[in-house]
Amino acid sequence: MESKYAFTNAASKLKKPTTLVTFSTSNPNKRSISEQSPAKRILLAENGLAAILSQRKSLPVYAVRGRILEEIKKHSTLIIIGETGSGKTTQIPQFIHEERLDKEGRIGITQPRRVAAITISLRVAQEMNTKQGEIVGYTVRFEDVTSENTKLKYLTDGMLLREAISDNLLMKYSVIVLDEAHERTVHTDVLFGIVKQAQKTRKERGLKPLKILVMSATMDVDHFSNYFGNVPILYLEGRQHPVKIFHTIQPQEDYVFSSLVTIFQIHREAPANHDILVFLTGQEEIESMAHHIRLIARDLEGKAPPLRVYPLYSSLPSHQQLDVFRPTSKGMRKVILSTNVAETSVTISGIKYVIDSGMVKARSHHPGTGLDILKVQRISQAQAWQRTGRAGRESTGYCYRVYTRKEFESLPKNSVPEVQRCNLTGVVLQLLALGINCVSFDFIDKPPRESLIAALQQLKQLNAIESVDSPALTKLGHQMSQFPLDPRFSKILLAAKDYNCVEEVISIVALLSSESVFVTPPNKREEALSARQKFVSSAGDHITLLNVFRTFSKISQKKQWCHENFLNVRNLQYASDVYTQLLELCKRCKVPLSSCGQDIDKIRKCLVTGLFMNVAELQRERQYITVDTRQAVTIHPSSVLFGSYPPFVLFTEVVQTGRCYLRQISTIEPEWLLEIVPNYIRNHKLSFSSVS
Ligand code: CDP
Ligand code: MG
Repeated sequence: MESKYAFTNAASKLKKPTTLVTFSTSNPNKRSISEQSPAKRILLAENGLAAILSQRKSLPVYAVRGRILEEIKKHSTLIIIGETGSGKTTQIPQFIHEERLDKEGRIGITQPRRVAAITISLRVAQEMNTKQGEIVGYTVRFEDVTSENTKLKYLTDGMLLREAISDNLLMKYSVIVLDEAHERTVHTDVLFGIVKQAQKTRKERGLKPLKILVMSATMDVDHFSNYFGNVPILYLEGRQHPVKIFHTIQPQEDYVFSSLVTIFQIHREAPANHDILVFLTGQEEIESMAHHIRLIARDLEGKAPPLRVYPLYSSLPSHQQLDVFRPTSKGMRKVILSTNVAETSVTISGIKYVIDSGMVKARSHHPGTGLDILKVQRISQAQAWQRTGRAGRESTGYCYRVYTRKEFESLPKNSVPEVQRCNLTGVVLQLLALGINCVSFDFIDKPPRESLIAALQQLKQLNAIESVDSPALTKLGHQMSQFPLDPRFSKILLAAKDYNCVEEVISIVALLSSESVFVTPPNKREEALSARQKFVSSAGDHITLLNVFRTFSKISQKKQWCHENFLNVRNLQYASDVYTQLLELCKRCKVPLSSCGQDIDKIRKCLVTGLFMNVAELQRERQYITVDTRQAVTIHPSSVLFGSYPPFVLFTEVVQTGRCYLRQISTIEPEWLLEIVPNYIRNHKLSFSSVS
């Protein structure tokens, strides 16, 4: 195989795994509600309502519906734990609604990921035989499918936090479900504090009560219970079948390659319809592996069952995500390549094999260098167990860990909550908009004080607050908090008015909110790069993106044009939708539409107003160093500026894969910094070799 498909490492690294461990979940000593017999999984879309109803009834939570409702009625706050797939997310809100416990209000169910919010809401609407946006709906960033009638509202945790800005008592809701709480996203963590306070205040003021449910797929929930004052924990017994776990004998140098080898090892031997779920780290990696699998599978025709590959990651449009859930026809095999999206929040039927690369892509803030870094890193043991569990949903399964048992043992037990490793600027701004000082906020786990101070300092630099010591929002800060964006980008949008480039900047911000619009099939690399040439600007990636978007917006045969130009039509369409929404928000903030035409200096200057901390300067030896934090960095090979060495660049993000790479870059003039942010340059005593 390796001679044909040029991978970097030699084959057969992955020896036939021999280590064997048997997997079983422990049953913690909580209130236990007993399990119902495992049910046959029935196809959704292709079956009628009756089938859906019978499937609902077969879920573990259904058998204990009465008990669950009783506990919910009794307590104003309750923690519920249960295996993925037991029916927590789809059923419990329906039970509450059927019993009219929501009374006049809504049930808000938060999800850390948009994929989950959308697909679950679609599923529940189907179960309730209603149209999306009626009784059941969802709200995710840049998309709101709800109406006045919506009672069950699935929304991302970020969106609920936004809603709290205009209504900090969350009066529209009578029940809030903080779902997938074990993921400990920064937004869920902050919501813990917000809903706790809202519940308390509503009670004190004699307003209608707020019920809080916290749902989690992991057992480690005492912490949640303590936070709310030792509230009861309800344990739902799941349907976990034993899973055999294999570890590699040797550590693997290249987890992607090793995972690929493992897929085919299984594919050659396993019976048809025993599907495989592979955990990888991100879109590019997944799409590239999907491509290789399809090529290799073609060679195996006749020797193994026909194979269908499905990518699964959060930015995938919902209709494609739904494809993943459809069972494959008889005699076939489904291979799903997923990010950690499939770790807990979604359930996929048919999975018999899990391949765990042991890696995840996570954003972390490096306090030493001050950089926000997107980094592929090892998962925690808790995550490894969740991944393993995906193989035992319907029957006995197998989990191939592409790492040694020793490596497993050296993994951290639990992932560090995001709030303790992330840049908090956005959250601190939102808290301030809510009238809450982050330093005294009742966090479930306090973030390091330095992170809070760093966030306040950044907000000060962006002119969003008066001062770090008394962090009252400025008028600009108030406006910035209206945008569902990183504060640096909100600042850029609001500044665009002064540079007469609102249209251009909205386009760029919309494009940066989407996944990559460029497609580079490994076998047509040259063609793709040459098609891209006509958009390339020597000013860098932002203007290049803008050029693509300008043409895309004008052209009528969008799909065909994208195909011919190696562009991703979905991602461009998404950017287009985001553009419309941002335009609306700008109008609300009294930022009228303007265009600078071909005067691209204006656009880059406007980018400097928010991203001035993200500037790197060329050193000798063609090395770059960040101006603010003196960190050695390199231009990412995907940038149009790769291979040219402009003296100063402004970058959007840093990705660490071995080295620190800068992504989405524009060239800038150092004088612009002195012109646009003189105080910042002065206070940081920044100096440039080329400017006095
Ligand atoms: O929240 P929890 O993991 O406990 O389960 P759930 O998300 O409520 O899912 C319960 C069941 O609904 C799953 O086992 C699937 O059979 C089904 N489901 C589905 O088929 N498609 C979805 N998009 C969501 C759920
Ligand atoms: Mg769930």
